[in-house]
Amino acid sequence: MIKILKNLLYLFTGKPAIPSGSSETLEMILNRRSCRSFSDAPISDSDINTILEAGRFAPSTVNLQTWSFITFTDAHWRETFGRPVPFKAPAAIVICADINRLQELMPEMLETPALNLSFAVFNAGLAAQNMTLAAEALGLRSVMLSETGRTGLLDFAFLREKLHLPAGVLPLTTLVIGHAESSLPGIPPRQPREAVVMETTYDNTSGSKLKDWFQQMFIGYKITHPLSSFDKQLEHYRSKMADAEHEIHKEFDKK
Ligand SMILES: Cc1cc2nc3c(=O)[nH]c(=O)nc-3n(C[C@H](O)[C@H](O)[C@H](O)COP(=O)(O)O)c2cc1C
Repeated sequence: MIKILKNLLYLFTGKPAIPSGSSETLEMILNRRSCRSFSDAPISDSDINTILEAGRFAPSTVNLQTWSFITFTDAHWRETFGRPVPFKAPAAIVICADINRLQELMPEMLETPALNLSFAVFNAGLAAQNMTLAAEALGLRSVMLSETGRTGLLDFAFLREKLHLPAGVLPLTTLVIGHAESSLPGIPPRQPREAVVMETTYDNTSGSKLKDWFQQMFIGYKITHPLSSFDKQLEHYRSKMADAEHEIHKEFDKK
């Protein structure tokens, strides 16, 4: 019981440590939260272009820029998927890891599928976070999705067909962007610092330090989703994992 209370307390107090006098940029990074409730205020084309530029100018391995961004207004999303953008956001960008363009130029890539995949996913992830931060800097809010509303890697086969993705293109996540409808909910709990920060060598007992965090996830989920549970969410995720794994293997084991 004391443990539950301790973890409940953590949910309300576990905020990032922001040194006083920090720069606006640092505050923006540490205060960013995923937003899941958008107003119907539109986003200007100029803001979308700025967000795309933040993605395009992200760093990448050997500057290979292994990404593609597929943009949607709400109307275009409805045309393609027959429903609104998740959380009623006015705009969405599907962020793909992409080695399709490079294969002709660098045929040796055909011999290193696991390496290509690792770099492509890493680079596209950097672009995604650059875009997220650009949206924040413009006063917008966003959330990256990979499951909700069939928006990412867990629905790879579905998105490949809908978006006409060629070989070597992996739909990692959909960044949905808009103006927040209301204040953001609490901060999802972070794993303890001692589990993820290590000195000198890898600490292979770090997994055993996650029990409290797991309980915090369950309690936090119940507070924000009274009719559901973190268990159900994990179950749903698990039910899609095997198919997604199979599709990714098919894609990147091709020679
Ligand atoms: C690649 C990726 C995929 C995600 N997929 C989903 C999703 O499908 N549905 C959702 O509600 N949130 C999704 N999220 C948001 C995470 O749940 C969120 O980042 C995490 O709980 C931490 O919360 P915060 O972003 O507010 O700090 C995703 C985040 C990332 C980076």
